[in-house]
Amino acid sequence: MIRICMVGTGYVGLVSGACMADFGHRVTCVDINQERIEGLVKGVIPFYEPGLDRLVLKNVDEQRLTFTTSLAEGIKDADVVFIAVQTPMSESGEADLKYVMKVGEEIGELLDRYMVIVTKSTVPVGTNRALEKIIRAKLTTDVEFDMASNPEFLREGSSIEDFMRPDRVVIGVDSERSEELMREIYRPLYLSDTPMVKTGIETAELVKYASNSFLAVKISFINEIAKLAEAVGADVFDVAKAMGLDKRIGRKFLHPGLGFGGSCLPKDTNAIVHIAAEAGSEMSIVRAAIEVNRNIPGRAIAKAENLVGDLTGKTIALLGLAFKPNTDDIRSAASIELVKLLEAKGCKLRVHDPAAMENFKLFHPDLTYCQSPYEACESADLAILVTEWNQYRQLDFNWLAEAMTGNAFLDCRNVYDRPHLEKFGFKYDCFGRADHSWPVE
Ligand code: UGA
Repeated sequence: MIRICMVGTGYVGLVSGACMADFGHRVTCVDINQERIEGLVKGVIPFYEPGLDRLVLKNVDEQRLTFTTSLAEGIKDADVVFIAVQTPMSESGEADLKYVMKVGEEIGELLDRYMVIVTKSTVPVGTNRALEKIIRAKLTTDVEFDMASNPEFLREGSSIEDFMRPDRVVIGVDSERSEELMREIYRPLYLSDTPMVKTGIETAELVKYASNSFLAVKISFINEIAKLAEAVGADVFDVAKAMGLDKRIGRKFLHPGLGFGGSCLPKDTNAIVHIAAEAGSEMSIVRAAIEVNRNIPGRAIAKAENLVGDLTGKTIALLGLAFKPNTDDIRSAASIELVKLLEAKGCKLRVHDPAAMENFKLFHPDLTYCQSPYEACESADLAILVTEWNQYRQLDFNWLAEAMTGNAFLDCRNVYDRPHLEKFGFKYDCFGRADHSWPVE
């Protein structure tokens, strides 16, 4: 059993902390946000993640998981401290490291024996070295410590499964002592033969950016193919399926639609462009992926106009606000840009999301928030499917045809098809399927 201090109870920290406790380790999660810690002690999870509440409660009950606002208390008996605080994107697109560095300073002041200090937050290459200097400068006693990098590859909405059954675990270390400790933390995964990739620290830092950037490139690539498919009379569904059957390419992350959003891919693609520039290198492919992604909401608006004509004064139902299903996260969600563009066109917006409405309300209190997708569609001229939540996959189109003023449906996630919607009298459009698209007038 390893004694772990996890600093930061955001998405990454809380999921990792709860899962490590479930592995049998003793975990203390630390956060400066008192309200959050008070809530967690009572089992209140500060964001929506399937299964996390049960996992936290179980490990709290079994006394392997505790919460505190005091870093001193958190690292008192710890063998290892994980830094999992946020690294938001700054104005210029770089990762803002102020929270990570602040935690580093505090750890330096408190360190009184050997410890491994691990970054779990996604940090630019070189951060661990910089952090090491900061910690060393703050030491009050002559103690040894090791840095390590242990990037996470958790997807929101399925993060517990991703943690418990990962494709790989990457540990960036530069001493045997820290390697041994990191391997011990993940020992339960040896049973499932999880590959353990041991690298140097800089390499581990780069693995994370390279992985997320590649996923982003894959999504933008299929979105460009979708655009081309519409122009040449092809169907991106079949193109992606046939491409994906080539094992070198793979089927995943070839779904066209509104592009990538969320707190990770947009931030990490921008960050790697900066990291490369600072290193005197180029990231032209990632730049292109960002550009393709940026243009997608504009294409959706053009499709909406093609379906219902001039949008001024039209009532539009948006189904889904979260950046993807099974999360209440709206960070860099395509819905934000869509709302901006539709409001600029003078549309009235009726919106629904099963989990993300409270978060969206904080930024857009004036939209009409509805309790169901059906309520959102009442008297709408056009319904736009923005997030492919399961509950939007079997809509009652007889009901919608009655309740809506118009008869247009824009399917930004390619959930339905044109023959199906035409049966109910709808004009339908989607992304990348020439036979299913509404002809441009
Ligand atoms: C992503 C990575 O998948 C994780 O491996 C990584 O750990 C995480 O970022 C992170 O850096 O912490 P996440 O942001 O939760 O995870 O979401 P994804 O499932 O990757 O989806 C990202 C976006 O791409 C969503 O907006 C989704 O709708 C979109 N997407 C995904 C597509 O448009 N097409 C696809 O084929 C796949």
